[in-house]
Amino acid sequence: MSAVNYDPRYPSVFDLKQKAKKQIPSFAFDYVDGGIDDEKGKQRNRNAFHDIELIPRYLTDVSSVDISTEIFGKHYAIPFGVPPIGLGNMMWPGAEAALAQACQKSSIPYILSTFSTTQLEEIAQIAPDVCWFQLYMPNDIEVMKDIIRRVKCAGFNALVITLDIPVGAKRNREIKNGLKLPFRLTPNIIWQSIIHPVWAIQTLRHGQPDFVNVLPYRKDTDNDGLAQFITSFTQHGVTPERLKMVRELWDGPLILKGIQCKKDAKLAIRHGIDGIIVSNHGGRQLDAAPSSVDSLRQLPESAHKNLTIMLDSGIRTGLDVVRAKALGAQMGFSGRSFFYGMGALGTGGANQVIEIFRDEITRSLQQLGCLSFSKMDSSWINQ
Ligand SMILES: Cc1cc2nc3c(=O)[nH]c(=O)nc-3n(C[C@H](O)[C@H](O)[C@H](O)COP(=O)(O)O)c2cc1C
Repeated sequence: MSAVNYDPRYPSVFDLKQKAKKQIPSFAFDYVDGGIDDEKGKQRNRNAFHDIELIPRYLTDVSSVDISTEIFGKHYAIPFGVPPIGLGNMMWPGAEAALAQACQKSSIPYILSTFSTTQLEEIAQIAPDVCWFQLYMPNDIEVMKDIIRRVKCAGFNALVITLDIPVGAKRNREIKNGLKLPFRLTPNIIWQSIIHPVWAIQTLRHGQPDFVNVLPYRKDTDNDGLAQFITSFTQHGVTPERLKMVRELWDGPLILKGIQCKKDAKLAIRHGIDGIIVSNHGGRQLDAAPSSVDSLRQLPESAHKNLTIMLDSGIRTGLDVVRAKALGAQMGFSGRSFFYGMGALGTGGANQVIEIFRDEITRSLQQLGCLSFSKMDSSWINQ
């Protein structure tokens, strides 16, 4: 049996979420927790996991199970990682460096966002064995080339291109909270900071979070303000031509994130992509999008044969990671879980979330009578 090494007051991601909601300002909580429109897509992601039933096989000695996985020639201790989260240090100051540290220690992937608030070079030093970089495709080809050069130089292990933000999202909670770029101290934000002094003091100590990885590309002639610069930074829809260019510039593992349709999966194979993350951005972009689980079910056989398949959007338990594996995903990611953890417990929350998942994945496999994560497949599903 695995040793459980977490704060027993918060044994699940749900418990961390409840605590985070009280602990941090509502604008920071809503930024992470919110979805788009009616937030039905976010709920659909969860429901789809609940609907996957797995049939246990007893009469097996399960005293030892192997939950490690190997992808892109690297060994990871747990088949679970941190997906890219922009503005990570706003939810909890120092979150990105703490996450990178926790992932390196536990040997799980950490994907740094283009719109992160810590220098990519610093993260690569903290997590040399497990850091991946997520690219929002810049409009400017020279900027794209420079970022890829920096990512390569820093030693990132994989490059992830996000496809599912052809346009910025209109998220109602953020609009109502007055969350704008650059941050303005509105009466609501000031009040929220006063009533959450621990968060406010930590934030003052760390300084205001900024888009440090892309700000160097802001030209003196960009007079339209930070918000406009960030909005116009990325392409409105990643084009196949750009994929071709990136494939020529980057010879390491190349991953597309946000795949939801068969045609895109087939295009990925044609462009020499190594892996995909099936994702609907956690229900933050299109409320009508299918759940990530349904998108995974729809992938063509050729995707399973030719691509390393991973999944995020809706994962909240170790059992969900096992369920995703039963459908063919080698690795699961969960964005909000980690930020609920940090919102609840500060930077120590990263380890708490990893331990919760390590324990739940192990116990789920033991309960199912499956001795190795790599052996979990569709034969366990109650069809
Ligand atoms: C607050 C927040 C910021 C995010 N920022 C990014 C980002 O910068 N780049 C990206 O590719 N995905 C981003 N995502 C999407 C996550 O990488 C991931 O797809 C999503 O969180 C998965 O859903 P889950 O939170 O339900 O696990 C963000 C998600 C959240 C919640």
